[in-house]
Amino acid sequence: MQWFPQIKKVKWMKRENPMDNDMKNKNNATNPIIEVSAPAQEISPKKCISVEHSDPCTIVIVGATGDLTARKLVPALFNLYLNGGLPDSFSIVGCGRTKLNDQQFREKMETALMATSLMDQTKWHSFAAALSYRSVDYGNLTSFISLAEFLKYLDQKQNTQGNKIFYLALPPSLYKPVAQMLGKAGLSKEKENGNGWSRLVIEKPFGRDLKTAVELNQSIQEYFKEHQLYRIDHYLAKETVQNILMFRFANAIFEPIWNRRYIDHVSILASETLGVEHRSGYYEQAGVIRDMFQNHMMQLLALTAMEAPSQFETGRVRDEKVKVFRSLRPFPVEKLNEYIVLGQYGQGKINGKPVPGYREEPGISPDSLMPTFAKMKVFIDNWRWQGVPFFLSSGKRLAKKITEITIQLKEIPHSMFRQTLGERIDANQLTLGIYPDEKVTLNFHTKNPGARVCLRSVTMDFSYHQNYTGPILDAYEKVLIDCMLGDQMLFWRQDSLEHCWSFLTPILNECETCANKSEMLHFYESGSWGPRTISRI
Ligand code: BG6
Repeated sequence: MQWFPQIKKVKWMKRENPMDNDMKNKNNATNPIIEVSAPAQEISPKKCISVEHSDPCTIVIVGATGDLTARKLVPALFNLYLNGGLPDSFSIVGCGRTKLNDQQFREKMETALMATSLMDQTKWHSFAAALSYRSVDYGNLTSFISLAEFLKYLDQKQNTQGNKIFYLALPPSLYKPVAQMLGKAGLSKEKENGNGWSRLVIEKPFGRDLKTAVELNQSIQEYFKEHQLYRIDHYLAKETVQNILMFRFANAIFEPIWNRRYIDHVSILASETLGVEHRSGYYEQAGVIRDMFQNHMMQLLALTAMEAPSQFETGRVRDEKVKVFRSLRPFPVEKLNEYIVLGQYGQGKINGKPVPGYREEPGISPDSLMPTFAKMKVFIDNWRWQGVPFFLSSGKRLAKKITEITIQLKEIPHSMFRQTLGERIDANQLTLGIYPDEKVTLNFHTKNPGARVCLRSVTMDFSYHQNYTGPILDAYEKVLIDCMLGDQMLFWRQDSLEHCWSFLTPILNECETCANKSEMLHFYESGSWGPRTISRI
């Protein structure tokens, strides 16, 4: 995997940090915009996006009448098609319990695409010709055997060389039975010469605790081996998340300070304005810890904290992440209050409009104790990070949709300006913005113009899209490309998953079974920054 944007200029401008863990370091300085030039990278955007060596293949979407297929998968495939990102020979087969014929499926997908800005009627008809549909009964082997026969016929017709991707766009309860049926129908088998591969793509959540994740894996691995499994975390496919490793390890200036000597703490924030929406059934079982922490937050933590692998290569990158997960200090469950704050949103306003509280949402129990917000203080027990707290916060119905990682540096050891400026000078702060501002910012101090000695805080700011005019890959496009290429770097490996579940399962058990469960949950107003108690840890 290679990624090089065309960077010509870096801007220095004002920034503000909306949810700083340590408010004393909040920096609201204003300053002029200064332009700085950096050398251009001469790699064309087209080269960065295209897949030159992907094998011909059939993409089978199981659960193709669902929301994910219409909203994400087919638009992603169509956009790849428009940008030359699909192999020369490919077929897309939708499967589901609903009875549809090919034409009805194509019409459904056409309607879905019309709702996006992607639809290009001149290209739609040739793309639609590659779409077909088969209805399957998930509990019936004969149904999967006839799917296998259809895939064989299609493979010969389209010359896709026996290569298949099965994308499970299904509720989690169906992962195990469907993976087993695919296996029993012979669809997980691969040829020995590396051709005729078969890959299984699975959405989160993978299990609901350590035990169920291990069981699910064992049952899937009766037929699909680890190299065939692509466990998705769409955060990893975000450009700016991938950029974390480039930023850390393609520059010499940050790595020497990326440790306990210079860093005071790290804050990782993923706040959302959305509520539970139409997913009450799932969310009442999951809550914020399973929904956001077990996957996205843990991956952001790993990318921020991991050591440099010797090469940017799948196995080595994944190995380094596992080392981070293995070094997580277990939470002292008897002192959970010192490490975690849980919250649930009540009524409030989002974008000026009144919204209901979580317990008033359709399908949610009126006395639900499910957390929709959590802040955790996490420590990594190794040489680099000993004693440095990582604050992970995520919640629904918060003031703003923001995903960002803030590296709070330590204060200067001694201020020579203390007679004129007072003792304290705010510490430097580096922020990796993931959403909505895809950027890197660094704040530091300069002299304010004038005869008096006054400090001025300024912010150096690189916007990710600055001077870039090429196409941007959506996270699902990236996931599909990597799966076609057989690159598992951005997918969860089972050992990582198990380490994260081992870390979080005791917390979940404690939070879900403790006698003072309701005391642990702090309500917050929708549109705020979470429970008032967040500053407790
Ligand atoms: C999903 C969660 O994995 O991530 C959702 O299930 C959440 O609850 C979403 O809203 C957030 O993703 P993003 O890309 O919008 O930050």
